[in-house]
Amino acid sequence: MKRSMWGSRVGFILAAIGSAVGLGNIWRFPYLAYENGGGAFLIPYLVALFTAGIPLLILEFGIGHERIGSAPLAFRKMEKKWEWLGWWPLLFTMFGIVLYYSVVIAWCIDFLFYSVNLAWGQNSEAFFFQQFLQISDGPTDINTIRTPILFGLLAVWLITWFIIMRGVSKGVELANRVFMPLLLILSVVLVFWSLNLEGSMNGITAYLKPDFARLADPMVWVGAYGQIFFTLSLGFGIMITYASYMPHNSNMTGSALITALVNSGFSLFSGFGVFAILGFMSASQNVPVDELVKQSIGLAFVVYPQGISMLGDYGPIFGFLFFLSLTVAGVSSAISIVEAFVSGVEDKFAIDRKKLATVLCFMGFAGGIVFTTNGGLFWLDIVDHFINNYGLVLAGILECIVVGWFFDIDKIRKHLNNVSKIQLGPWWNWVIKLFLPISLAVILLNQLVVELTAPYEGYSWASLIGIGWSWIVITFLVAFILAARPWRTENHLEKGRGDEL
Ligand code: ALA
Repeated sequence: MKRSMWGSRVGFILAAIGSAVGLGNIWRFPYLAYENGGGAFLIPYLVALFTAGIPLLILEFGIGHERIGSAPLAFRKMEKKWEWLGWWPLLFTMFGIVLYYSVVIAWCIDFLFYSVNLAWGQNSEAFFFQQFLQISDGPTDINTIRTPILFGLLAVWLITWFIIMRGVSKGVELANRVFMPLLLILSVVLVFWSLNLEGSMNGITAYLKPDFARLADPMVWVGAYGQIFFTLSLGFGIMITYASYMPHNSNMTGSALITALVNSGFSLFSGFGVFAILGFMSASQNVPVDELVKQSIGLAFVVYPQGISMLGDYGPIFGFLFFLSLTVAGVSSAISIVEAFVSGVEDKFAIDRKKLATVLCFMGFAGGIVFTTNGGLFWLDIVDHFINNYGLVLAGILECIVVGWFFDIDKIRKHLNNVSKIQLGPWWNWVIKLFLPISLAVILLNQLVVELTAPYEGYSWASLIGIGWSWIVITFLVAFILAARPWRTENHLEKGRGDEL
């Protein structure tokens, strides 16, 4: 079967940036920076970017481009027994991350409309938790579906379905060619607007002022490495797939660097906007910046609306633009998750893209419903925590071990050097073979020990096992089942690009 291809390198880079830049940049990063010592967080964040993010992104681009395949096909072409490692991330992202991720986009769509008349009124916190989410007592109390969220979710999946159906260049690429410039314009407008508000500099000081004492806290480092995985869509299987749609002579190492730097640059830049708003609010309410935010979800959906209300006549337009930018960033990431799964199934089972997109988007919508219920926020919190902090990092470690120790990693390095301007020295092999598996394993174990002593966020063990761990274990088992199914195409018999060298 002929492989889908990007129309151009720019299209590919825009799609990779579209996948990377998402809710993680505008919603998660600023809050993490705020919580983990302001300017001090930027140090572990940048260390994580350069020691793990960039080498791993180069690896994922290299795997996809050299082996020419979606994640399952690429690992299968390394060796039959590793195919499951391609399926596993696709499964926990398609049936885990994107289910709640699309629900957060649905909130953004709802808030886009609420901005028009500042529907949250005087108390945005009560509005978000009591009126909008109608939050229950805990994860076991699901109660009913919240219809505004359900309709938002339907909209997200209809947009995703429409884009995926149209294929790689006419769907995903075209959407990103529209979404990314739009997002850039929206962000520039929002950040400069925020910086001009009175008191904004207090927020910027809180953002940039380093608190070096926090660097001694291992959880700050865990947060930084986890964020780098999430934000660069590493361990999702997406970047492998996206790279496989590039023609032979494409500067892959350069593309990885551009994607990583633009993505982190975008996070740092939008951080200025968020903290400027916090500074403005702190000045208007006479509350210190560090007392404005209590938890991550609150930053975008509680604190921001409050700030928007303080903007007077311009509030509705600012709110609309802010939630539009979150929606655009979120949708371009959500489509990348679905595309990676579609590509894996297409490669192995040759199922028609349109049918597949329809079934998957329907399943995505149906699977997301639990997160639209009164107990949905708890589910979201638990699934997000387990899949991001364990699933993605573990997938990253396994990828490094398999490619580094059970495959000729030099084949990938030489191939990358052959097609790219920037040349990777043999040191890169050792980063993948030793440095990354060891340092990521230390991070993972550290977290595991902390959580075995004190259950995450005080949830019951039953909820954590039922909703969190089981997601990881079930997707693991299904990955083996899918890998054991016979191939309906001949794709796996083809050679990798490096085999020709
Ligand atoms: N990389 C995407 C984000 O940061 C998933 O939201």
